[in-house]
Amino acid sequence: MTIPPLPAFPPGFLWGASASAFQTEGAAGTDGKGPSGWDVFAARPGRIKDGTDGSRGTGFYDRYREDVALLAELGAGAFRFSVSWPRVVPDGSGPLNPAGLDFYDRLVDELCGHGITPAPTLYHWDTPLALEHGGGWLNRDTAFRFAEYAGAVAERLADRVPMWITLNEPAEVTLLGYALGEHAPGRRLLFDALPAAHHQLLAHGLAVGALRAAGASRIGIAVSHTPVWTAGGSEEDRFGSALYDTLSNWLFADPLLTGAYPDENFAALMPGPVAEDLKTIAAPLDWYGVNYYNPTLVGAPAPQALDTFAGFGIPPELPFGIREIDGYERTGSGWPVVPDGLRDMLVRLETRYGDRLPPLYITENGCSFEGLRDSRRIDFLDGHLRALHAAMAQGVDVRGYFTWSLTDNFEWIEGNAQRFGLVHVDYATMRRTPKDSYHWYREVIRSSQAGRPYEHPRG
Ligand code: BGC
Repeated sequence: MTIPPLPAFPPGFLWGASASAFQTEGAAGTDGKGPSGWDVFAARPGRIKDGTDGSRGTGFYDRYREDVALLAELGAGAFRFSVSWPRVVPDGSGPLNPAGLDFYDRLVDELCGHGITPAPTLYHWDTPLALEHGGGWLNRDTAFRFAEYAGAVAERLADRVPMWITLNEPAEVTLLGYALGEHAPGRRLLFDALPAAHHQLLAHGLAVGALRAAGASRIGIAVSHTPVWTAGGSEEDRFGSALYDTLSNWLFADPLLTGAYPDENFAALMPGPVAEDLKTIAAPLDWYGVNYYNPTLVGAPAPQALDTFAGFGIPPELPFGIREIDGYERTGSGWPVVPDGLRDMLVRLETRYGDRLPPLYITENGCSFEGLRDSRRIDFLDGHLRALHAAMAQGVDVRGYFTWSLTDNFEWIEGNAQRFGLVHVDYATMRRTPKDSYHWYREVIRSSQAGRPYEHPRG
């Protein structure tokens, strides 16, 4: 089969890779790091499918130089990593841990030394345990502690960090962590989890202010988006699908980009002086990050939980159910491969927000597959880059693309069993081995930077 060349992206388009602290750093108790909710959650028997607990990560804390060298060899323009909040503020509030800040200082210097833009995310799910014990994101105070921490990190790094991300996927934290109890902190509050959404949004808004006060610029957020497809044609199906669309796509984006919740009913369920908070939440953003993996097929509550949907099921008491998407290839984690969903989602965002939508970056996109000869990952990424290019041709302003992930890493409740990396990690030795997709991505970046379409090796 002939594969036409991948079109070149505009000059200056930023090519990067993403990762996060808990999934890679390891060194859980090293150099004064405090415990996080995930440290405790993952250590509970039965929580992580392969029995691992994330405490070793990929050894990134000790091997970051090796990974930066891999990024440099890849030709990456940027690296999206996350700062571990409990490494910097071990108790969630109070004294900073100088050794923790020193680590990120060294990492930033290493990246800058290789001409790679550091793009830190300040929260990729590892809440300091002390704050989790105080209610975590259900407690309004957590938002203020987050802003203090964000300001402290920026005080130290803003002179060298030109791109900032406040939160990663607040929708997943709310749904998986607080509503369904599948992720840390393991709360199963269903709709009573909504305050966790509001407080994360507030934390974001407060952090934007704290970051700017400390001299940071180019501030964004990484939000997950999924085109929601409706299963079936009944009233209940349409209701379930529309509700899921609101919860997963607009509950966060609307307040951030328009200063209002998508629906008065949601605003009424939120705690605090909501109208006032919304002004903080809608602080102008320099860019908006989209994490995209696949569409979601949603209808009326399903008679039985769907266990391939990110490894968890929606309980029947919720007014929607997730269905299998048939007729598409699947990744190693069972997720459907639908590249056009990325184009579709970007166009939906552009249509909904118009001039209010700041420039976009794809802050995550990738897939889990086994093996070093990972032609299926190449096909996945190639397809998604074509879809991205198509969205841009339709007028969506996208400035860069970060694939998930640079290396294999701890995939939350899947443990080490799902491998999303361009680089293989042998968890016994932590040895890194670039996969075929790594070499492919390097050529994509090179061609694009030279303004040439990329001739696919199998073209
Ligand atoms: C998260 C990553 C995760 C990836 C693949 C995203 O939801 O931000 O931490 O590894 O998806 O599941």
